[in-house]
Formats: sequence, structure tokens, C-alpha cells
Amino acid sequence: MIPVIVNGAQGKMGQEAVKAVQAASGLELAGCFDVDNNLEVELKTHRGCVVVDFTHPSCAFQNAQTILAAGCHGVIGTTGFQPSQIDELAQACKSLQHGFFIAPNFAIGAVLMMRFAAEAARHMERAEIIELHHTGKADAPSGTAHKTAEMMAESRAAAGLPSFEGPDAVTNTLPGTRGGCLGGIRIHAVRMPGVLANQEVLLGAAGQILSIRHDTLDRSCFMPGVVLACRKVRSLKGLVVGLDQLLWNESHSTHE
Ligand SMILES: NC(=O)c1ccc[n+]([C@@H]2O[C@H](COP(=O)([O-])OP(=O)(O)OC[C@H]3O[C@@H](n4cnc5c(N)ncnc54)[C@H](OP(=O)(O)O)[C@@H]3O)[C@@H](O)[C@H]2O)c1
Repeated sequence: MIPVIVNGAQGKMGQEAVKAVQAASGLELAGCFDVDNNLEVELKTHRGCVVVDFTHPSCAFQNAQTILAAGCHGVIGTTGFQPSQIDELAQACKSLQHGFFIAPNFAIGAVLMMRFAAEAARHMERAEIIELHHTGKADAPSGTAHKTAEMMAESRAAAGLPSFEGPDAVTNTLPGTRGGCLGGIRIHAVRMPGVLANQEVLLGAAGQILSIRHDTLDRSCFMPGVVLACRKVRSLKGLVVGLDQLLWNESHSTHE
């Protein structure tokens, strides 16, 4: 049995993760921690465990470092990592040859949306991303929107194409109206009560628009991905970022 601890266990995702771990064959719930626990102290007696983290962007990096320092394997779903923080974790995991995993989105449909968007980015002239989340979401844009734009930009670069660019508004009477920009892709973050998590990638070319959309209807959709990561993380040889890497890259290429 693989011992799994859930950090952020009282939160919306944490509660789902606890149920998923309890129901999954080969996994055993070894602990539930939340904001009142001192993670460093708690993990002292859990070396080698898998730690699922769904907490808050403000503590995600610190928690990841604590998990690694304790000799545990992180399955991190918390969003809000800076690229420099991912790089730092990757270096530390690489030198220790230690399995660690981060996914901005554990839902298979969202992973497919990102993959299709990356492919489409090579064939279209412009792209924008609209992500919609509940009002309790702490970070913007979402980790999924950020990762989607990154994958689309990388896909174009790999094909020798320039980043998306072209005519745009020349007067902006309301700052921020055109959203944030990553790799020439505008990202617009909508926060609404009643919404869970949705994303639409719009790609345009002369006379046509392609829309690739994913709607999260229930948090249970993330759990097969979480369980898969818990089963695989201990055999990874460094930091792996993105569920697509576990699903389609059998060599488990690590983040350099
Ligand atoms: N990767 C994915 O597929 C995916 C999917 C959905 C959400 N997420 C991300 O997962 C994270 C959690 O989302 P959520 O909706 O579950 O949030 P949530 O309902 O607010 O739950 C977070 C839980 O973590 C606790 N917490 C805060 N700081 C902590 C700390 N330092 N140590 C331990 N626990 C701490 C919170 O306690 P308090 O309430 O007392 O602060 C709360 O119980 C967010 O970053 C979200 O964007 C990722």
C-alpha cells in the first residue's frame, strides 16, 4: 500500500482527495493536515509518504519545499507557482533523483483541451484564452490558463513560428481591458459566483474561429488524475509538471 497524506484536507479539493484516496486500491490514507498543522513537524514521522497538497497559492512553494525536505513525494495541485519556483524545485528534485509532481489541472478533459490548443496554435493566426472561476479563487490567471498559453507558445516556437502577434487596439480607455499577455496570447480571467472552473481557448484565422472549451461540473473530475499521480510519483526521477506527462510520456520526461 502507498501511504498518502492530504494537506489542505478540510478544503473543497482536499475533501474530495481524502475520499478518492480512501476509495482507491493500493493507496492508504496516512494523514489529513490543514492550516492548523505544522507540516514540517507532522512529516517528520512520514518519510517516503506521498503528500497531496491542495492549499493556497501563498504557501504552495513553501509546502513543496517542506515536503521535499521531509523525504516525501509531493503531488501538488495548488496553483500559483512562479516559473522560477518551478525551476528551483526541479533542480532540487533532480539532484536528489526524487519523484515529485505538480499539475495545474488534474481533469483529463482540461488536459486534452490544453493538448488540442497547443496543436491548433500551429495553424491559426491569433489566440485568446477566457477562463472563468468561482469568486473564492485566490490567483489569476488560473494555473490552467497560464499552462495552456505556455504550451501553445512552445508549440509555435517548436514549429519555427513567431509568437502570435498582429493588429490590436491602439487606444485603451480602460486599463486591463485587453487582459494579460503570455506568448502573444491574451488571457482574460472572469470571477463569478456559481461558476466552478471553465476555460475557452479561441483561435482565429481569416474567416473562421475555432473554440476549444472545457467545463468543470464537479470536483470529482480531478480525482482520477490525483489517484494516478499518487500511484506513479514515487517512481519518477525528478520533478514532472503536468498530467499529460504521466498519461502520454512513458519516459516521464522531467522538468529541466
Ligand atoms: N490542480 C487542479 O486540478 C486544481 C483543481 C482545483 C483547484 N486547484 C487549486 O487547489 C488549491 C485549493 O483549492 P480549494 O478550492 O480546495 O481551496 P479551499 O477550499 O480554500 O481549500 C484550501 C484548504 O487549505 C487550507 N490551507 C490554507 N493554507 C494552508 C497551509 N499553509 N497549510 C495547510 N492548509 C492550508 C485552507 O484553510 P483555510 O480555509 O482556513 O485558509 C483550506 O482548508 C487552489 O490553489 C486551487 O486553485 C487545483
